[in-house]
Amino acid sequence: MAGTLASDAQASIRRMQEDPMGWSKWVRQIHRWVSIAFTVAVIIVTIIVVGGVESAEWVYLLPLLPLFILLFTGLNLFVQPYSSKWRSGRSRE
Ligand code: HEM
Repeated sequence: MAGTLASDAQASIRRMQEDPMGWSKWVRQIHRWVSIAFTVAVIIVTIIVVGGVESAEWVYLLPLLPLFILLFTGLNLFVQPYSSKWRSGRSRE
C-alpha cells in the first residue's frame, strides 16, 4: 500500500506544479453543473414550445447562455491534457 501512497503523493505534487491554482478542477465543476442548467433550460423551452404557450422571445434563447459557458469550459477541458503535456515537456528542457 505504501507504493500507492507514494505514487498518489507524486501525482498530487505534479498536479500542484502544473496547475497551482487548481483551475482545471473548477473548470470541470463549472462544466458539470452548467450542463445540468442547460438540460433543464432545454426541457423548459421544449415544454413551452410543444405546449404552444406564447412567450417572450428571450425565453426561447435561454439555453444559449449555459451552452456558451459549456462551449468555452468544454474547449478548455479538451485542451487541458495537451497543454499540461506541453508544459511538462518544456520544464524538463
Ligand atoms: C458545447 C461544447 C462542449 C464541449 C467542447 C465539451 C467538451 C467536454 C470535454 C472535453 C469534457 C472532458 C472529457 C474528459 O474528461 O476527457 C467534457 C466533460 C463533460 N461534459 Fe462537455 N462539452 C460540451 C458541451 C456539453 C454539454 C451540452 C453537456 C450536457 C448537457 C456536457 C456535459 C458534460 C459532462 C457532464 C462532462 C463530465 C464532467 C465531469 O467530469 O465532471 N458538455 N465536455
